[in-house]
Amino acid sequence: MPARRLLLCFAAVALSLVATLHHPASGQAREVNLYNGRHYDTDEAIYQEFTRRTGIRVNLIQGDADQLIERIRAEGANSPADVLITVDAGRLYRAQQQGICQRVDSPLLTSRIPEHLRDPQGHWFGFTKRLRVIAYARARVSRSQLSTYEDLVNPRWKGKLLVRSSSHVYNQSLVGALIAWHGEAFVARWARGVVANFARPPQGGDLDQLRALAAGEGDVALVNHYYYLRLLNSPNPADRAVAQQVGLFFPNQGPEERGVHVNLSGACVVATSRNRQAAVAFLEFLSSDFAQEVFAKGNFEFPAVRGVANPMAAIAPATLREDTLNAATYAANGGRALQLMVAAGWR
Ligand SMILES: [Fe+2]
Repeated sequence: MPARRLLLCFAAVALSLVATLHHPASGQAREVNLYNGRHYDTDEAIYQEFTRRTGIRVNLIQGDADQLIERIRAEGANSPADVLITVDAGRLYRAQQQGICQRVDSPLLTSRIPEHLRDPQGHWFGFTKRLRVIAYARARVSRSQLSTYEDLVNPRWKGKLLVRSSSHVYNQSLVGALIAWHGEAFVARWARGVVANFARPPQGGDLDQLRALAAGEGDVALVNHYYYLRLLNSPNPADRAVAQQVGLFFPNQGPEERGVHVNLSGACVVATSRNRQAAVAFLEFLSSDFAQEVFAKGNFEFPAVRGVANPMAAIAPATLREDTLNAATYAANGGRALQLMVAAGWR
C-alpha cells in the first residue's frame, strides 16, 4: 500500500530529525577518543598538532592491542572509543571481523594511502610500513647466502634459524602472504622445512631473536626491521653491541621476485563512534606529511604515503622492492597460516 509506505517513510525521516536534534554534538564533536595499541612517546606530537589545527581534543586510552579490541567488544554500543590504533594488518582484520571497525569513505585517505595498505572496503587504513626481514649474524653469514623467505628451508640453515612463535600475528601475516602467493600445499611443506631448520624451539619476541644471533645461538632470524634499529639507536651500549653483530637482509629482491613482506601500523573508526567526523578527521590527519614523518619515525618505520620524506631511507636500498599484495589478503589468511604452522610443529 503506497500511502502507508509513504507514511512510514515520513515517520522515519521525522525520527531521524528528532535524533539529530537530541544529539546536537554529533557531527561537530570537539573531542576524539583514541584506543591506542601503539606506545611510542613521539606519537604525542601528532595528537598535539591535530588539536592545534582542528581544536578537537584527543583523549588517549593506551593499552595492549588485543585487550583494547576485546574491551571495545565488551563495551558494545556504550564504548567511548572513536578510533582504534594498532599494529599489524592481522589485528585490524580481526577487529573488522568482530564488527568493531566501520567503513570510511574518504577521498583524501584513498588518494594518500596506497591501495595495498588499506582494506578494500575502507574498514581500516595503514599509516606506516614495517618490513619483516631476515637478520643474520655478520660473523658467520655472507649476504650472498641469502635470497628469499622460501629459501629459509635450505638445509644450509639446519639448526641455525631463529624465529618467534607461530602464535604471534607477525608470523601469521607473513605466512598468510606466502599462502596467497604459493598456496597451502606449498606453505605446509615450507613450514616443515622451517621447523627442520630451527636453532631452538620458538621463544621470546623479535628482539630476543636478534640477541640470540649475537649470542651465537643461530645464524639467521626472521624479524621486523625496526627491532634492529631500536638496538642500533639504543642508549644502552650492550644493545648497540648486539646490533653491530647483526646485518639486515631484505629478501625477495630479485628482478623476478615480488619483494619484501610489508606490514603496517593502522587505524579504524570504531563502529559505535559518537564522534565520527572527528574520528575521520583524525585518520585523515594521520595521512598528512607532518603526521606521516612523526608516526613513522617514532618506531623507525616507513611512512605509508608516497613522497613523504622517509627517515628510514638510509637502511633500505633506494630500489627496495616491496610486496604490494593487499594487506587484507594476507591478514585474512592468518588463521589458516597458524593452522599450517602448528601442524608443521612450529609452536
Ligand atoms: Fe613489534
